[in-house]
Parts: sequence; C-alpha cells; structure tokens
Amino acid sequence: MAALRHSEIAGTGHYVPSRVVKNAEIESLLDTSDAWIQERTGIEERRWFEEGHDTTANMGTRAAQMALANAGLTADDIQLIVFATLSPDYVFPGSGVLMQRELGMKENTPALDVRNQCSGFIYALSVADQFIKTGMYDNVLVVGSEIHSSGLDKTPQGRAVSVIFGDGAGAVVLRPSTRDGHGILSTHLHAQGEFAEELIVREPGSNRENRVGVALENKADMYPYMNGQNVFKNAVVRFPQVIGEALAQNGFQPADIDMLIPHQANLRITQYVQQKMGLPDDKVFSNIQRYGNTTAASIPLALSEAVQQGKVKRGDLVCLAAFGSGFTWASALIRW
Ligand code: UT7
Repeated sequence: MAALRHSEIAGTGHYVPSRVVKNAEIESLLDTSDAWIQERTGIEERRWFEEGHDTTANMGTRAAQMALANAGLTADDIQLIVFATLSPDYVFPGSGVLMQRELGMKENTPALDVRNQCSGFIYALSVADQFIKTGMYDNVLVVGSEIHSSGLDKTPQGRAVSVIFGDGAGAVVLRPSTRDGHGILSTHLHAQGEFAEELIVREPGSNRENRVGVALENKADMYPYMNGQNVFKNAVVRFPQVIGEALAQNGFQPADIDMLIPHQANLRITQYVQQKMGLPDDKVFSNIQRYGNTTAASIPLALSEAVQQGKVKRGDLVCLAAFGSGFTWASALIRW
C-alpha cells in the first residue's frame, strides 16, 4: 500500500479585539486584585470584544485572511473549513457557515464545527489532517475563535472563572506536504466524560421539556462553572502524558522539542508542564499574560505569534498540546 500523504501548516494568522482589559480594570467589578490574578494565573490583561464590530465568525475570518495571505492562497483555494469554538454566534447554525459567507467563497465549500473547548483547535487540526491524508481535500482552513467576555459572570460570584477568559481568534491553512518527514507527524486525541460537569455551561440545555423557561429561571447556570482545582490537578497530569505520547510515537525525547505551544490555560499550569518535561524557557511559548485563556483560539493565536516573532522556524520540531472541558486533551507533533 502506498504511504499516506501528510499535511503541513502553510500559513498562520490571528486576530484580537482592540479593547485591552487590564487586571486593574476588573478589580472592583469582580472583587479581585491584580496581584491575585498574576500570582495564580500569570494573566496581566485580556481582550474583550466590541459589540457591533467583533463576532466569533468575523474574528475567525480576520485570522483566516491573515493565514491565507501568509500561505499565498485565497479563500477560493480552500475546500473545507473546520471551525472550533465554544462560543458560537448562534446556538445553531455553527459559526463555520458564517465564516464561509464572510470569506465570500465561490464554491459551496463545506464548513464543519468542532466543539471540544480548550482542545477544540487540536481536534479540528486532526480532522483536517485526516481529510488531507486520505486525499479528499487539499487546502483546509482550521480556525479557533472565541468571545468569552459576553458570557462571563462579571460579579464577585464569578471571579474565579471570569478573570481567566479572554476573546480572540487564530487560524491555520493546512495543505499536503511535499517535503519528506515534514508537516504534521501525528495527532493524539483523548476524552474522559466522567468529568463533563467539572467545567461546564449548563443552560440552555436541551434535556428539559421547556429549556428556555428553565434557563431563564436558572440564570446562574448560563455562566461557566469550573471546579478550578480539579481541572488544574488533571491538567498537570494530562499535558505531560499527551506530549509524551506524541514524542514516543515518533521516536523523540522531550529534549528534541524546539517549541512547545501549549493551550494557554494558566501560566502556572504551563510552568509546571515545562518543569516536568525539563524544557528551557526559550522552548515554551506563552502569551496568556496578554490575552488570558481564549480556549479554542489560544493555540492558533500563540502559534501565529510565535511564527511572526521568528520563534518557530523551518525544520523545528513543534509540539501543540491542550487540556480542558470534557475533559478532553490532545497533542500534535509537527516538523515545521
Ligand atoms: O482552559 C482549560 C481549563 N481551565 C484551566 O485549566 C484552569 C484550571 N484552574 C485554575 O487555573 C485555578 O484553579 C484558578 C486560577 C481558576 C483558581 O486558582 P485556585 O488557586 O485554584 O483558587 P481557588 O478557586 O482554590 O480559590 C482560592 C482562594 C479562595 O479564597 P479562600 O476560600 O481561600 O479564602 C477564593 O475565594 O482564592 C479566592 N479567589 C479569588 N480571590 C481573588 C478565587 N478567585 C479569586 C479572584 N480574586 N479572582
């Protein structure tokens, strides 16, 4: 049997709303402090969207336009959109079709929405990779975009969750690789549904006779709930595990990694993972200080900035890894 072809990232892009919200701005709103947020999460500021200007779909579109330009392609070259978000513009349809409309694609290009929260981008990347491997599609747009700020409890009750999340978008263009041994080497996906309720937005859930009525009566359940300590505990185990799995499958050691781009969950989680893997500072990329946790957008946003800053170069071994709601976790190993 002929070897399957594999895919590579041909271009990266990102977009963040222009409104910068520093920790000081939310201190009184959430009964928190800059010192607490920085000490526990490393976050200094995040972006909040501007109503009437930013949408989950159009932020994804802007990130995708940058990725397309960097790949030297146009929207008409794309044969599939895979759009990861937990904050779609509508309950349905997904934001992928909205982005397809905004990009003005001339063909009836399919758009697939992925909802795996913090792991959404790597799940989406893995789906795109399979389509390219089988030869069904050539150029695929993979996008992560989130608006958290409109759905956060901005009262002291919500402070443990609301200080963390921010808005933003990132995108990559995937295409078949012509370079032997380069591109996406493998992807690894996992889930553990027993922890589904540990990081959750319950309402409006469909399994009640009158979901809208119930949701309106339980407004607090329309905000995210997180058992932060348990999420943290599991994250620091699963990140090293899934990174190790990717390395082992391809015959590498942690020291072979040139750049680890983890989901930007919490700087303390990243530092723990870095220490556990024995990686030096210049091999781990973090931008959570400026953007907070943007769930499905965080990895493509970090990757795009790392490429832009010349921190990811041709030939580098790049590892992406994520953990979050579900629980779901995932990794991808890429020879750039
Ligand atoms: O995106 C992937 C999924 N998410 C994550 O990976 C996040 C994982 N979890 C975390 O990052 C951390 O659990 C948090 C940063 C969310 C919270 O940090 P923590 O150290 O686990 O805090 P905690 O919830 O255990 O609360 C410790 C204390 C409590 O006060 P007492 O009971 O000790 O007096 C909280 O009331 O900190 C208090 N607290 C705050 N104080 C000021 C909680 N949130 C805040 C806040 N500002 N924003």
